[in-house]
Amino acid sequence: MKQILMIEISPRGQDSASRAVAEALGTRLGALYPSAKLVRRDLTREHLPHLDERTLRAISTADPPEAKRPKEAAHLSDHLTDELLASDLLVIATPMWNFGIPSALKAWIDLVVRPGRTFQYAENGVLGLAKGTRAILIISSGGVFTDGPWRPWDYVEPYLRQVLGFIGITDVQAVRVEGMNIPALSSGAVSKAKETLEDLAL
Ligand SMILES: Cc1cc2nc3c(=O)[nH]c(=O)nc-3n(C[C@H](O)[C@H](O)[C@H](O)COP(=O)(O)O)c2cc1C
Repeated sequence: MKQILMIEISPRGQDSASRAVAEALGTRLGALYPSAKLVRRDLTREHLPHLDERTLRAISTADPPEAKRPKEAAHLSDHLTDELLASDLLVIATPMWNFGIPSALKAWIDLVVRPGRTFQYAENGVLGLAKGTRAILIISSGGVFTDGPWRPWDYVEPYLRQVLGFIGITDVQAVRVEGMNIPALSSGAVSKAKETLEDLAL
């Protein structure tokens, strides 16, 4: 393992359930892979931009022609994409917000899911190019979504698995921190999730 990329999104600092579990995972990974580089991207500190016209043109593979692309506008996307492709393991620690991912995480995804870099169109569909990377998702939520009536409302884990699979990251494990807004579950949710770290194939 050469590089681990950890993306954290919650703005709740010390109170964040997803960050607490990510911290415990980081400690385990550090002990297992002492020589691996841990790259942490805190998306509450870095405000990644939404894609604008110049960036879209710069990262396009179709239009405009190569010579006319404003390449400097691709700099951030290039950097984040290189960082992802250089990582053997991607850890995404995210809250569920309004049944989906926070927009800060979507901004990162929009910058790294790139034609010609992390996927390409092939004869029989799409080819993911980030095949050397695997992923662990840490997802915290106020309710319970892995079982019961709210299951269809989970647009976090299925979406992340789908979009990561699209770029070739198909080895994806998930740790859920559930019931943070349910008094009977909230006090034990983080420690329960930390226990499930034992079951991960690291
Ligand atoms: C803006 C916002 C939207 C939220 N939306 C949902 C939601 O749709 N479903 C849910 O179960 N919990 C929701 N929650 C609760 C969070 O998912 C829960 O507090 C979780 O622990 C947050 O992760 P964190 O502790 O890492 O910040 C929401 C919280 C906030 C602040």
